Amino acid sequence: MSWFLITAAIAAVVSYKLIQRLRFKLPPGPLPKPIIGNLCDIKHVRFICYYEWAQTYGPIISVWIGSILNVVVSSAELAKEVLKDHDQKLADRHRNRSTEAFSRNGQDLIWADYGPHYVKVRKVCMLELFTPKRLESLRPIREDEVNAMVESVFRDCKLPENINKGIQLRKYLGAVAFNNITRLVFGKRFVDADGVMDEQGLEFHAIVSNGLKLGASLSIAEHIPWLRWMCPADEKAFAEHGARRDLLTRAIMEEHTLVRQKSSGPKQHFVDALLTLKDQYDLSEDIIIGLLWDMITAGMDTAAITTEWAMAEMIKNPRVQQKVQEEFDRVISHDRVLTEADFASLPYLKCVVKETFRLHPPTPLMVPHRARADVKIGGFNIPKGSNVHVNVWAVGRDPAVWKTPLEFRPERFLEEDVDMKGHDFRLLPFGAGRRFCPGAQLGISLVTSMLSHLLHHFVWTLPQGTKPEDIDMSGNPGIVTFMRTPVQAVATPRLASDLYKRVPFDM
Ligand code: HEM
Repeated sequence: MSWFLITAAIAAVVSYKLIQRLRFKLPPGPLPKPIIGNLCDIKHVRFICYYEWAQTYGPIISVWIGSILNVVVSSAELAKEVLKDHDQKLADRHRNRSTEAFSRNGQDLIWADYGPHYVKVRKVCMLELFTPKRLESLRPIREDEVNAMVESVFRDCKLPENINKGIQLRKYLGAVAFNNITRLVFGKRFVDADGVMDEQGLEFHAIVSNGLKLGASLSIAEHIPWLRWMCPADEKAFAEHGARRDLLTRAIMEEHTLVRQKSSGPKQHFVDALLTLKDQYDLSEDIIIGLLWDMITAGMDTAAITTEWAMAEMIKNPRVQQKVQEEFDRVISHDRVLTEADFASLPYLKCVVKETFRLHPPTPLMVPHRARADVKIGGFNIPKGSNVHVNVWAVGRDPAVWKTPLEFRPERFLEEDVDMKGHDFRLLPFGAGRRFCPGAQLGISLVTSMLSHLLHHFVWTLPQGTKPEDIDMSGNPGIVTFMRTPVQAVATPRLASDLYKRVPFDM
């Protein structure tokens, strides 16, 4: 009897899907198989797979991941339809069981559906957390961390074992990103000047790693909702993870409350800002914890990943590296360390950052948007509940809108000033519209700061015996795209040695 019911249920779902496909004029795409859809045809690095399918089926395609329709657009024109013309209808998020658990059913910002809660927390972020005034007041933290990075690179590049082999940049960039985000969000540098992490930092690290492990542990049933009863998620592990995260965050929140009670001066860290605004915006403790961890998740890796790609391009293209350094010599000279205030006078550097975001957006498929209503894109029907992805990576390489798109040529942005903060649909590293990245300016400042310090203080060359073609320019799978092989390069100091010393700044 029970098998009869199961078979009947499966038949009903399959027929419903079939009718849906026939009723709607869906975008073209590879032929889906019953139940699993295109799941087995998708290659590991999704944005490249979708790009290749777009070459066959056109700039808007249907990809069935299990029983869920995913629509991928790969042109600037269609990106505008998704992110501007039909922005509101496409502003929900798809949550799997992991993101559902971590965000407490969307009680944060990243995973929240569009609605009154989303509008409220987005307002808190835009009007309170990411204001130019707060970002400026947190600038000393960013500058301190890049100076610490310069000091470590200077120390390590002279070690005999690194002289010809060079150093792996990712380690240094990752440290800047880690310390910067924990200081900004929690007001904590968990790592001391000798690189030793304290107990809270170790716990923080363990929680982040465990979160990644849990996220990756989900089964195929994630994509076939009606199969989920057969493959239950490890609810206990998710609950334990949530409790551990809350315990650490509450302890940090309490420490900040005590400090604020003792000293009345304004504190700029996100944890203080949110606790101070709790009543004004009616923010529960769960919402505050969700927002703090959103910033950690979204803000930790993205800037470091982009800077690693930028450095790979600098080593592959010594002409560009030299041109940036000539600009530094003209504007900054060799006598002092540059600061964020110098960026405005360094137009070529800014073009290099833009060109990196064009060719190597760290979130190449953005974060998918879910349709909250039926909508038409490019003349095709997108039924309510479908996920819509913008292949930002493909748009950045589209020969229809970019001249010699595969060439790393920052000068293109001197010839034409293209906005990258959501107004020009050819360049969308931070998305556009309602769900545009609130940390965009912070991300740009961090990338520019890391890159400029590395290039002002050092000349970067290939390890002995290697050629530019040896640099692996392929990316890893995942929502954020690390370089598959970490960049290794030889750093040669170009300034006087007293300019490599960090003067720790406590904030
Ligand atoms: C290079 C740096 C960064 C890049 C390329 C980047 C890119 C993006 C993208 C593509 C989205 C999705 C937009 C969409 O769904 O339409 C996003 C969302 C988001 N980003 Fe960033 N980001 C960066 C840095 C940061 C930083 C530093 C923070 C915070 C500290 C941050 C916080 C967020 C948040 C909270 C969201 C969710 C917004 C929402 O759903 O409304 N990002 N980011």
